Amino acid sequence: MRVARTVGELRAALDETEAGGDIGLVPTMGAFHGGHLSLITAARAENGRVVVSLFVNPAQFGPHEDLATYPRDMAGDTATAEAVGVDVLFVPDADDIYPPGFDTWVDPGQVGTVLEGAFRPGHFRGVATVCLKLFHLVSPRRVYFGRKDAQQVAVIRALLRDLDLDAAIELRVLPTIRDPDGLALSSRNVYLSAEERARARALPRALDAGLAAHRAGGDPEAAARAILDAENGMAIDYVAVADLDGPTLAAAVRVGNTRLIDNVRLSGEDAAGGS
Ligand code: PAJ
Repeated sequence: MRVARTVGELRAALDETEAGGDIGLVPTMGAFHGGHLSLITAARAENGRVVVSLFVNPAQFGPHEDLATYPRDMAGDTATAEAVGVDVLFVPDADDIYPPGFDTWVDPGQVGTVLEGAFRPGHFRGVATVCLKLFHLVSPRRVYFGRKDAQQVAVIRALLRDLDLDAAIELRVLPTIRDPDGLALSSRNVYLSAEERARARALPRALDAGLAAHRAGGDPEAAARAILDAENGMAIDYVAVADLDGPTLAAAVRVGNTRLIDNVRLSGEDAAGGS
């Protein structure tokens, strides 16, 4: 595995491996868990070369968010990436991605302004900008994203379509990986105390209750909200049905200082695994 720490090293690594064929790109912010690994495993199976980016992107964090404390595990992530057959691990510095004078942004439209976009102004602008830069730098045939961040998927799908990249780049979306108790894996779960971790299980339970209500002809938002409201110490940012690649019940909650998001598709076979 080649570890590229600058754009120059990335270009060199891609040149050296050119004979390897199509590239599958998995953008991440690191602190790998099973969700990241499922994306990397799929990329490994479907492409000649696998590039994983590991970049805690300052542009997608608000001024009072957790950029400084975001979990980082460079040594562990490097070993994991090597073990699962990543060809190139791209670990740039912020200055390399946003050099002095950087002043051009990709601003998603309506799909980026609701839900997460309403609670985290500028978040999807940061996501879209860094992803477009990564797409240009890596020239992937396929890019891999998790359904866990369903609105992010919708933003990236719109970006590929609107900026005429959808013919060159296939968007691969993979299901949410969960712990056995239903909680979606997330790098931020390490912030939770044992007691908060137990309370957080109400989130997938609520989404499953919403899905069940929807299937029974009822109101998914109300059913999910009732469960979250009953959980002590849980603050709701939103619970809402939105069209995120199909009708989706999405929620964001805060447990202590930790903000968690999750969603369940209302069509198809999805379940949050929380029942
Ligand atoms: P990060 O939170 O590290 O997530 C990287 C990818 O892993 C995303 O596509 C995310 O949806 C996926 N993922 C996270 N948890 C998952 C789970 N439990 N099951 C399946 N997939 C999961 O998302 C980002 O980083 C950033 O916004 C990024 C796209 C890298 C841009 O900076």
